[in-house]
Amino acid sequence: MNTIHNVNIIDIPKVHDERGILAVIEKESIPFAIKRVYYLYDVPTESSRGGHAHKEQQSVIIALSGSFEVIVDDGITKKRIMLNKPNRGLYIPTHIWREIENFSSGAVCLVLASTSYNELEYIRDYNEFSIQKGEL
Ligand code: TYD
Repeated sequence: MNTIHNVNIIDIPKVHDERGILAVIEKESIPFAIKRVYYLYDVPTESSRGGHAHKEQQSVIIALSGSFEVIVDDGITKKRIMLNKPNRGLYIPTHIWREIENFSSGAVCLVLASTSYNELEYIRDYNEFSIQKGEL
């Protein structure tokens, strides 16, 4: 069962010259095959997103623009991670509760996902999450 220790920062390779920076995500940089990409934008600062864990989906979260904080929780330990660099990804494996908050103005939250969207693989109830963490 995954713990907070399985949550990692991924440095996305970039090419920097006088014209600016080009960051590139190739399959070697991500610990799973990408099945879906989605993104959050126009998120009010006071909004809290996430609030769930996944049974199957692994994710990499990137602050493509602006900043926000991700709180990851394995049922025992919680960690708050600020994302504010477009070449830094946060890898979150399965069975980790996450919340995303404190979005800056203009923030864009990109998510690379290992699965297609399937509501059945979400755990949206924290009690259910805690029970699963205790049992598995
Ligand atoms: P939700 O899981 O609440 O978003 P977040 O975790 O970012 O707070 O999803 C919001 C809505 O969007 C919900 O009705 C499910 C839907 N949705 C899709 O239709 N496809 C997707 O790929 C995702 C991630 C969500």
